[in-house]
Amino acid sequence: MARQHLQVETVILGAGAAGLMCAAHAGAAGGRVLVVDHARAPGEKIRISGGGRCNFTNLNVKPQCFLSDNAHFAKSALSRYTQHDFIALVERYGIAYHEKTRGQLFCDDSARLIVDMLCAEMARAGAELRLQTRIDGVAKTEGGFSLDLDGQEGAYGVACRNLVVATGGKSIPKMGATGFGYRLAEQFGLAVTETRPGLVPLTFGEDVMADFRPLAGVAADVAVTCGAARFEEAMLFTHRGLSGPAILQISSYWREKMPIAVALLPGADPFEVLRERRRQDGRKAIASVLADLLPKRLALHMADRLGLAGNIGDMSDRKLSALAQALNGWELHPAGSEGYRTAEVTLGGVDTAALNSRTMEAKAVPGLYFIGEVVDVTGWLGGYNFQWAWSSGRAAGTAI
Ligand code: FDA
Repeated sequence: MARQHLQVETVILGAGAAGLMCAAHAGAAGGRVLVVDHARAPGEKIRISGGGRCNFTNLNVKPQCFLSDNAHFAKSALSRYTQHDFIALVERYGIAYHEKTRGQLFCDDSARLIVDMLCAEMARAGAELRLQTRIDGVAKTEGGFSLDLDGQEGAYGVACRNLVVATGGKSIPKMGATGFGYRLAEQFGLAVTETRPGLVPLTFGEDVMADFRPLAGVAADVAVTCGAARFEEAMLFTHRGLSGPAILQISSYWREKMPIAVALLPGADPFEVLRERRRQDGRKAIASVLADLLPKRLALHMADRLGLAGNIGDMSDRKLSALAQALNGWELHPAGSEGYRTAEVTLGGVDTAALNSRTMEAKAVPGLYFIGEVVDVTGWLGGYNFQWAWSSGRAAGTAI
């Protein structure tokens, strides 16, 4: 039997957040659009995101909340399709949502509603979804691109004018992340910046872990600093190291051998706080004073580790100053991170210098587009990465 050969206007590789959004717009422009994915279902990362409720955007999206070798690259797409545009779409579909904290918007019910909404938009635009399809090869042709695909219909070829790469990053290989998009970029001569796990728990050597282990499960509101980056959020001690939003955020800025600094009483001068407590509660045990300021297990652990005993009233200024330094100047040297197994995102990616920031098209390869996480644009924790997927997907979709 002769091998089937399709001719379409646009092929989108990847039916994740960026690919589905792009399909909704590329399809609307006319011309046959095919969305191809090797997974069994579209939008799997959307489905599991935000604990199943999908933190789909953030009210405070600003270019400063994105990391990239070119800090300006994301501005154009983000300003032409904003968080308010996506919120309007969510509202049109009657999806109930709420602000959790720091501008983070979550579905009231299920993240599946966001996947269903994007699939409905894609279908409305006439784009066709082909799941469980392997991409065996991609080549440049005179009129565009040719692809060898192997799906539920068997193996077949596709010719297209536009090719959009929306295959995401390397995080969570168990969910089908492959790094395919980076290899494709290199095949077409595009540079790829160094990739590394981002928004990921940090791990420590055995010396530090011996100290941390009894604290597993303790959470505290802290400020974490690494270089010029600083985040004030919750930190969680785990059996493997440190996690929680503050650590995930700082992990995107951390590099091997850099220290991180933790302040356990952010926004306060701990020396002044302790002196005030000495004036008011001189007869209180120092461990109890610490327990008023910190989670109890952490306070007792610190008192024990620093050899603090007796009442606060008996402590000299010198001792209070040393304690204040321990509270807000805690320097730690992470040994590494938990890696792509648990990282929410991949930092780095297709070099933005190779792409047009308005359209996401490769400057040197007309008709080839890169969108979403595969591009060297990574957002903070809090809905920023999905907003980048929506904005970049829409930028390419409307340009096609
Ligand atoms: P995405 O990964 O969504 O999609 C890529 C698609 O390409 C997948 O469907 C994949 O199967 C397919 N694919 C890959 N390789 C292929 C190949 N070789 N052949 C065929 N298909 C291939 N962000 C946020 O803003 N708010 C949040 O709440 C969360 N929560 C969250 C939780 C967890 C556990 C993770 C891992 C990540 C998040 N994120 C997040 C990040 C967010 O999920 C991520 O940034 C976006 O999904 C990126 O969208 P893309 O479309 O670029 O990739």
